[in-house]
Formats: sequence, structure tokens, C-alpha cells
Amino acid sequence: MTNSLSVVIHPAEISGARRHETQSELAAGLLATAAHISPKYFYDAMGSILFEAICELPEYYPTRTEAEIFTRHMSEMAQVIGAGATLIDLGAGNCAKAASLFTHLHPQQYVPIDISVDHLHESVARLQQRFPHIEMTPLGLDFSRQWFLPDEVRSDKRVFFYPGSSIGNFDQDHALAFLRQLRASCDIDGGILIGVDLIKDQAILDAAYDDALGLTSAFNLNCLRHVNRILGSNFDVQQWRHLGFFNAQLGRIEMHLQALADVVVTWPGGARNFSEGERIHTENSYKYTIPAFLHLLEQAGFGNARSWNDPLNWFSVIYAHAV
Ligand code: AVJ
Repeated sequence: MTNSLSVVIHPAEISGARRHETQSELAAGLLATAAHISPKYFYDAMGSILFEAICELPEYYPTRTEAEIFTRHMSEMAQVIGAGATLIDLGAGNCAKAASLFTHLHPQQYVPIDISVDHLHESVARLQQRFPHIEMTPLGLDFSRQWFLPDEVRSDKRVFFYPGSSIGNFDQDHALAFLRQLRASCDIDGGILIGVDLIKDQAILDAAYDDALGLTSAFNLNCLRHVNRILGSNFDVQQWRHLGFFNAQLGRIEMHLQALADVVVTWPGGARNFSEGERIHTENSYKYTIPAFLHLLEQAGFGNARSWNDPLNWFSVIYAHAV
């Protein structure tokens, strides 16, 4: 815990070509007619802490509900999946979710992947001590860009672990393309263990993304400060407000930042005027029905699926085999 605080004070800097690419991507999003910022910019050091806090909120049911499903059905899941997997953790963070599977699942190799490999090393070092017999291969990859798995990743029984309903950040086309890439990256002995948030009563969804304490608002606004550091822009968080609501027509949560007044934002090489009420779209979080998600998996080449849900059917954990 204390070690991670140093990250808050000295945020890891990305360098060179990568940084330039990131800046042009951000500027393009801000200059688009419907301005947008990718949700990956939520997760600077402060954003990661805020997200962890969101996961503790009474309104934010996904983390807790998914954890309950894993606790209740872990032995059965392990039976279906089988031992000796190459467990590939997509968006591992602190590796805690995957680590809780180890004693049941007995993977041969653990491959935690995150956008920043630096953040992984500390958690992986700690985990390696607890599980010395599991080979651990941390990787830094950004799934919103071109990616491939290096040769250090065993090709036997690749099981992709994608919890937390992170798949919800992709629209349906991109979700399918992503799942197809995963399918192409494993053999017929592989599979995917994935957490999916389900469509439910609108009021429950709305509250989960617009909580009474305002943590989701802080999480959303904080991306402007992250963007300021990367782009050199001058966003003032006080001039914006958080919007988070379920769009039932499109089956997704939308998060936006809305200008409270006319705002001019400038950065080296660019500027954008926002009029009062104008929005920057910061996130979509798609919600599924189980049949719709199984169909998506099937289209991607994963089938013979098993799903485990909570008693209220708010969330589902699905294992699907490569077919
Ligand atoms: C990390 C993408 C799964 O969509 O619920 C939480 C992010 N955004 N509150 C989600 C998030 C606002 C979260 N995911």
C-alpha cells in the first residue's frame, strides 16, 4: 500500500513516439464534432484509486456481485476449465482477482497483462512468492492498439481471463473483433473466462454510475487532469459536471462531462471552444443479456459455454471453450 503512494506523486511518464501517438489521439478526440476522450485515460494513479473506491460503493454492484459468483462457484468453474492452463489476465491491475483462482485452477503459467507493465511488477513479485511453482510472465500491452502475445507465453491451453465486465467498454463491433483476436490467439484447447454485466432495472444501473457520494463524478472529472498532464491542456475540472446514465435504446451506460459554461480549452498546437451544456463523451459500458452475449461469443469462435449468475441475475461469469 505505502509503495503505491509513490506512484501518485511521481506518475509514470510515457516517452517518445508512444507519447506523440497518445497526444494526437487525444487531440483528435477533443476536436471531433462530438468530442470524446477514451476511458483508458481514467486510469492514472488517482483514477485507479478512485476506481478501487467505486468498487466499494453500495451502488456499484458489479465488483461485489462478480466476486460472490466466483466464491460460490469456483470449484465447479475449475472443474470445467481444468488444471494446467496458461492463464492470461487481460487488464490485471493488482492481479488480485486472478490470484484468488490459483488454488482451485492450478494454472501452469500466469500472464498478467496491463497497459503499464511497471504497475504489474510489484504485484507479480509478491504473488510469485506465494505461488513459486506458477511461472509468471507480466506483459505491458494496450488492447486498443495492435497487440500480439510474445513467445514466452506458452501456447498450451490458453485461457483468457477477462473479469469485471471490462468487455462493456467496447461497442458490439469492437467487442466481436477483440474476442476474435483472442480466439485466433489460442488453440482448440483454449477458452475464455469472462465477467459480463447484465441488463437490469434502469434505476439500479443509473445509481451505479452516478453514486450519492460523487466518487464516479470524481473519477470521470479526474480524466481531465490526466489529459492535461499528457497533452499540456488547461482543462479546469470546476467548469465541468459528470453525467452517468443508462441509455436503454443502445443498451449501454454512457458517461459524459458537460460544460457548465462556455469553455475554451487550449493545448500546444490546438484549441477547442465548448459552449455551455456541450458534452465530452468519456465512456460507454455495454450491458448484455446472456443469450446476446453467448451469441457474440459464438460469432467469435467460442462455444459450449457455461454461465454462473448471482441469484438476482445482475451479473454473469461465463466460461466458453474455443471451438
Ligand atoms: C472497468 C469498464 C468495467 O464500466 O463499470 C465504473 C468502469 N466506469 N464506473 C464499468 C466504470 C464508471 C467499469 N469498467
